[in-house]
Amino acid sequence: MVKPDGVQRGLTGEIIQRFEKRGYKMVGCKMVWPSKELLEKHYADLSGQPFFAGLIAFMATGPVVAMVWEGKEIIKMGRMMLGATNPQESAPGTLRGDYSIDVTRNIIHGSDGVDIAKKEIGLWFKPEEMFDYKSCLKEMVY
Ligand code: PPS
Repeated sequence: MVKPDGVQRGLTGEIIQRFEKRGYKMVGCKMVWPSKELLEKHYADLSGQPFFAGLIAFMATGPVVAMVWEGKEIIKMGRMMLGATNPQESAPGTLRGDYSIDVTRNIIHGSDGVDIAKKEIGLWFKPEEMFDYKSCLKEMVY
C-alpha cells in the first residue's frame, strides 16, 4: 500500500514501476481514503504500541493506493524491495532507503506474511476488485 505521504509526493508510479519491472503482476489496485475504523482493523496487531494513535491519525490524512501483487516469493521479495521499516536502517536501493527518512512517513506498507496478506486483502478488497488474467509476456513466469 502506498501510504498518504507516498501518494502526496507523487511516488505511486515509481513504486508500481519497480514491482512491474521486477516481474511482479498487479492483480488489484485502488485508491482509498481510509476511515480510522478500517485502519484500526488493519493495524490491530500494533494497538498496544505507543505510536498507534499517531500512526492511525497519519494514515487517515489522505488517500492511499492499496495494491495486490502476485509472483514468486512476493511477500519476502516485496519486503526486501520496501526496505526496513525504519528508514534509518533501510538500505539505499530500497524504496524506503531511497525515498524516506521517517518511520511513520515511510511511503509504503507491505504485508509481512501469507496470513497477514490474506487478512489485509480481505479488509481492503472485494473479491470482484481482484483480477485473474494471463500475461502476454511469455518469458514471465508468475
Ligand atoms: S514493529 O516495530 O515491530 O512494531 O514494526 P512493524 O510491525 O514492522 O511495523 C510498525 C508499523 O508502524 C509504523 N510506525 C512505527 N513503527 C515503529 N516506531 C514508530 N515510532 C512508528 N510510527 C509508525 C511503521 O511505519 C510500520 O508501518 P507499516 O505500515 O506496517 O509499514
